[in-house]
Amino acid sequence: MAQRKAVIVGASSGIGFEVARLLLTQGWQLGVAARRQEPLLQLKALAPDRVEVMTIDITQPDAEQRLFDLIDRLGGMDLYFHASGIGKQNRTLEPNVELRTVETNALGFTRMIGAAYRYFATKYSQPTSQASRERAIIAAITSIAGTKGLGPAPAYSATKALQANYLEALEQQAHQRHLPIHFLDIRPGFVDTALLSGDFPYPMLMQPEVVARDIVESICKLRNVRIIDWRYRFLTFFWRLIPRCLWRNIKI
Ligand SMILES: NC(=O)c1ccc[n+]([C@@H]2O[C@H](COP(=O)([O-])OP(=O)(O)OC[C@H]3O[C@@H](n4cnc5c(N)ncnc54)[C@H](OP(=O)(O)O)[C@@H]3O)[C@@H](O)[C@H]2O)c1
Repeated sequence: MAQRKAVIVGASSGIGFEVARLLLTQGWQLGVAARRQEPLLQLKALAPDRVEVMTIDITQPDAEQRLFDLIDRLGGMDLYFHASGIGKQNRTLEPNVELRTVETNALGFTRMIGAAYRYFATKYSQPTSQASRERAIIAAITSIAGTKGLGPAPAYSATKALQANYLEALEQQAHQRHLPIHFLDIRPGFVDTALLSGDFPYPMLMQPEVVARDIVESICKLRNVRIIDWRYRFLTFFWRLIPRCLWRNIKI
């Protein structure tokens, strides 16, 4: 997969930053985006000839156009990787926290994944050589939080469920339109990044470098859904079996 082109939105920290670093070591050309420019420039410094930088705020209406400008600068895109997201515990249901989460994880996500999908749909609707019909990939980090309604973080949990369903829906639509787009839904458990800072100590915390390695392997193996790691695969398998009448009693 050397020399392929990936755009990573949400590359300025945490899991997205680590995935960007790893793809660079594997020879990919990257377009990296987020709101903060400084960390994106750090990525560019690692391989100046292979990294393009663009500031994008996915909650803003110009985000789609800025993504297309980034793809132009990169000279195309084979993989769109969506790592942007926010999340916060909100046990008192502060409205601002809920609405900002929806704005970023639902509206921003839909805007950007939709833009990437439309880019690939246009690309594959044009007469083209066999080589450039190589399968495109849309990958996004959702979360295990989307597999059940979680009381401590209602908007986070609900928007992560939306993201997972959206990817599944697009996969069906793309298949029926004969678009060679592969979809990957990545669902990590707790990862030691800025997203969790300020809350309480989390159990079964994973390092972002380890999660990034699993993600890059999942991209290469064209997995569809990847829960990271095995402990969370086990956990989510069982908690999905719990009926609502019992679930509401469980303290998280
Ligand atoms: N950490 C965990 O335990 C965990 C578990 C499961 C899933 N996830 C998911 O993994 C993804 C990455 O999170 P992380 O843990 O790596 O946290 P992080 O270090 O806080 O990274 C979040 C990324 O999202 C970007 N972002 C936030 N708002 C944005 C906006 N409006 N426009 C563009 N980019 C924006 C941030 O960049 P800027 O601030 O520079 O814009 C940053 O690059 C999120 O979707 C998160 O829900 C995390």
